Amino acid sequence: MVRKIVYPKAGGVETIQIIEVQDPVPKSTEVCVRVHRAGINFAELMMRQGIYGSSPDFPFTPGYECSGEIESIGSAVTDFDIGDRVIAMTGFGGYAEKVCLDYRRVVVIPQSVTFDQAAAIPVTYGTAFHMLVHLGRFANGETLLVHHAAGGVGTAVAQICQSLGASEVIGTASREKREFVESLGMKFVDSATGDFVKKCKDLTDGKGVHHAIDPVGGRHLMKSYKSLRKGGKLYYFGASAAVRGNKRSRLAEIRMWLGMPRFDPLRMMSTNKAVFGVHMGLLEDSSIFEGHLSSINKMLLEGDVDPIIDSVWRFERVSEAQMHIHKRKNKGKVLLDFSPE
Ligand SMILES: NC(=O)c1ccc[n+]([C@@H]2O[C@H](COP(=O)([O-])OP(=O)(O)OC[C@H]3O[C@@H](n4cnc5c(N)ncnc54)[C@H](OP(=O)(O)O)[C@@H]3O)[C@@H](O)[C@H]2O)c1
Repeated sequence: MVRKIVYPKAGGVETIQIIEVQDPVPKSTEVCVRVHRAGINFAELMMRQGIYGSSPDFPFTPGYECSGEIESIGSAVTDFDIGDRVIAMTGFGGYAEKVCLDYRRVVVIPQSVTFDQAAAIPVTYGTAFHMLVHLGRFANGETLLVHHAAGGVGTAVAQICQSLGASEVIGTASREKREFVESLGMKFVDSATGDFVKKCKDLTDGKGVHHAIDPVGGRHLMKSYKSLRKGGKLYYFGASAAVRGNKRSRLAEIRMWLGMPRFDPLRMMSTNKAVFGVHMGLLEDSSIFEGHLSSINKMLLEGDVDPIIDSVWRFERVSEAQMHIHKRKNKGKVLLDFSPE
């Protein structure tokens, strides 16, 4: 028997259950991974609240990503050996002691990469790489604004754009994270009280930044757009403004929707600005993501990036781990430990 985490219905962390099920058996084109670490993503908190558009019906096991070892292999799979250390892009189901998935969603990791690092890479670095490199063609000497700068994606964005030669990175976060954000080479703006539009202009001779990364939504998104210079690029990829703590807040959701900007294409044309919508879970062509992962792997081995792990929690403490994120305490990635005791 194996244990896995289940969201039985929409609700707060108190609804989360851990259940025992039969050992999963891989189908012919699948491998079974004995999970060591699973990443926790902000989206999985939103799924639990029932406000994430592209998640399965309840009950389900969340978990976009995990790392572990191949335990068994389907009859048609030839690319893996039992015991291979891997990253698994599960999509859903990664919060489990064992998970079976299509072998094409699994990548072998070098011996020098730890299970912690491996589980912290796919969503955060994959998303950051997609925006900055694939869409944005981030160039040496360019400037960038990033929100939730101390979080999983935020720290990955900072590392990647600095390795590409960013001249200025402005990061917003909760007040308590100032020192941490500055230690990563960013200029800090307090997300509750600071004026990030002004800071972006002040640090760029009044022009604004080349790139702005916004996972907040609502009115905040237009402010990020205004932080751009002519020719700048805005990436919209989250809705954290719709979340207010552990329980679903319909008021926050409504506020976010009402505050969502309508971009004027004529103005965009006359300023040469671009707005990208980004949802990595809904990419049509999965080979794009696979390409990102192999580039990130190279950056990791060359020391250009190194995932920052905030904390690792035994999976039985998943509710506390998610509350840690709800309380905005994390600096870097939060992981669940599923390794055999
Ligand atoms: N579209 C995609 O494909 C994609 C992929 C990955 C992530 N995302 C989005 O990117 C954002 C960051 O994701 P992540 O997984 O790396 O999470 P994260 O940044 O580690 O998330 C936690 C941090 O977000 C900040 N935050 C802002 N509003 C919050 C709220 N209402 N409740 C709690 N914390 C809040 C807090 O930091 P501060 O208070 O210090 O800012 C908190 O520490 C999320 O909005 C996520 O949905 C989107």
